[in-house]
Formats: sequence, structure tokens, C-alpha cells
Amino acid sequence: MPVKISGTGSYLPERIVDNHEIATRVETSDEWIRQRVGIIERRIASEQETCAFIATAAGQKALEASGISADQIGLVIVATSTSDYMMPSMACAVQANLGIPDCTAFDVNAACSGFVYAVTVAKQFLDNGSVQHALVIGAERISRILNWEDRGTCVLFGDGAGAVVLSVDAEPGIIATHLHSAGQYRDLLYVPNSLSPQPFQKEVPDSHLTMEGNKVFKFAVSMLEEVVEETLHKNNISKDQIDWLIPHQANERIITATAKKLGMSMDKVVLTLPYHGNTSAASIPLALDTAVRDGRIKRGDLLLLEAFGAGFVWGAVLVKY
Ligand SMILES: CC(C)(COP(=O)(O)OP(=O)(O)OC[C@H]1O[C@@H](n2cnc3c(N)ncnc32)[C@H](O)[C@@H]1OP(=O)(O)O)[C@@H](O)C(=O)NCCC(=O)NCCS
Repeated sequence: MPVKISGTGSYLPERIVDNHEIATRVETSDEWIRQRVGIIERRIASEQETCAFIATAAGQKALEASGISADQIGLVIVATSTSDYMMPSMACAVQANLGIPDCTAFDVNAACSGFVYAVTVAKQFLDNGSVQHALVIGAERISRILNWEDRGTCVLFGDGAGAVVLSVDAEPGIIATHLHSAGQYRDLLYVPNSLSPQPFQKEVPDSHLTMEGNKVFKFAVSMLEEVVEETLHKNNISKDQIDWLIPHQANERIITATAKKLGMSMDKVVLTLPYHGNTSAASIPLALDTAVRDGRIKRGDLLLLEAFGAGFVWGAVLVKY
């Protein structure tokens, strides 16, 4: 069955933290962060803006935009690595908060590629006719897992959530998805859990994000170039047919490299990184919703979504909006 995006939504926490404020915490500067990464400011969630809260807010807006009511949703997937709980899932919290009746609800953890993974999973449920409408959300409160004394990581991230409603339709919207993983590189970017390693122990291990930024950067550039090539080739699409590139927002230099590979000018790339930072699984749906609401993305446009994250996991989604 063809599957289309019938609505988008997003939510950003109220508090804006700019580079100057970050520079009061760690030895860095606005100039360094802008030049090396491309970020000017990011949002940091308050205590009330839990992962469930921001996921629900984004989901609510996507539902409103789609015209689909809560009782028509048969599947809720939240892509997140920063759930409020180990269990239950954020998807169950969203289901309850939005008044969605009995449905299938679970989370997907594929780090910064979470949204492209979750869309791929949801597409299978819609493709095979199990459900008619799915709510897919990327939501992260990544500020909770940052080491605010590590300038190599804390300057890069931000909190937020983005969502789409996917619906069975007469015309194909989600044309193809291509997913990959290379788990042998998992030590280059990880967050240990904060459980005791053994029963009966009381120590709680450190559970902050750790990254070898330089190595991650090189892999991200080359894997994203490969998956973009693969997507074009396998779907018989030429570079000039893509209307919008909607990349995961991690580093402007990574995004520029992918755009260059596609021969795309940067005004065809949706760039929210300067104001959102890297919001992990939320970054693509946040960027998508931004460009839909400001009128840049129109019905019928061909979109290429791509992401890379811890695992490593990476992938692309080709969408006729
Ligand atoms: C993190 C990242 C911005 C660092 O940029 P980089 O150009 O690779 O910088 P390096 O790590 O090589 O460090 C260069 C220097 O800047 C310093 N530096 C690192 N962070 C800094 C900061 N916030 N402010 C100032 N200096 C900083 C380093 O200590 C190093 O100093 P030295 O040369 O005296 O040792 C970059 O590697 C990156 O974006 N990586 C990928 C991140 C990513 O995509 N992660 C998520 C995947 S989903």
C-alpha cells in the first residue's frame, strides 16, 4: 500500500541557550562553535518539559495538521535515546496523553538515525495493511545525558521533538528507505546506562555521552555520501530531481559535504542546526516541520532525508511530500 506523510508537527523547549552562555561553563567561544559546527544556539528543556511532554506536544501538532483524529491512529512509534524511563516506552506515554485508543505502541532506539529507522518500521505496518494511520515521533531530551564539563560534546546538542502522521494513500509518498549499521564502531559514540553492572552493587556508573568527534565526523561524511548515492541509484533518480535535502543536523560541514555530493546548492538544504543544535532523533522531523510550515516544502516535492548516528547506524528516506 502506498504511504504518505499526511501531517507534520514539532515542539521546541522554551529556554534558548546561546554559545555565549555555553562559554561561561566550558572553555569555548561563540566563534569556535559557529565555525567548526555551525550552531548559534540550542533549546534546553525545563524540568516540566520531559521527553514524554515534548513528544506529546509534537505529536499533537502533527495530528492537527493531518486532520486525522486520535482514534484513527493504529500505531505510535517514538524514536528516542533519552526516554524518561527504561520502561515503559515514550510511545505508551504519548498514546495516553493524546487519548489514542488501544493500538500498537513502542520506541525505537537508533540514536541520531532513530527517525529514519522509525519511519521505515512504520511503513511496513502501513504497507501490509495492518494499520491505516501511524504517528511517528522523534523526541530527545539529550541535555540530560551530556557531560556539561566536556567541551567536545556539550556544545553540540539540543532538546526538541518532531512528528509525522503517516497514512495509507492512493499515491506513493514514502518511496523508499535504505538503512545500514556497522556495530563494530559502537565505542566511538556511546552512552553507558546508569544501572549497577552487577546485582547487589550500589555504585552507579557514569552515564554521559562520550564521543571521538573527529573519527565520527569522517565516518559520517563517507557513509552519508554512500547512502545518498545508493538511494539515487536504486530508485533511478537523478541528483537534479531532488527538491529538498533534509539532513540530520549534526555539523554544518557534514551537511555541506553531502549537499556537494548531490550537486545541490545550500538553498535547497533545510538547515535548522544554527538554532536547534543536534537534537538527535528529533532533528529530521523538526527540520521537515519547519520547512513545511514556512512554506518552502510543498505537496509534490521530492525530499531526501538522511541521518547518521551512534552504532554506527545510518540511512536515507526518499519521500514525495
Ligand atoms: C566535535 C567536532 C565539532 C570537533 O571538531 P574537530 O574539528 O573534529 O575538532 P577536534 O576534535 O579535532 O579538536 C580540535 C581542537 O579543538 C578543541 N576543541 C574541541 N571542542 C572545542 C570547543 N567546544 N571549543 C573550543 N575548542 C574545542 C580540541 O580540544 C582540539 O584542540 P587541540 O588541537 O589543542 O587538541 C567534530 O569532530 C564533529 O562535529 N564530529 C561529529 C559529531 C557528530 O556528528 N556527532 C553526532 C553524530 S550523530
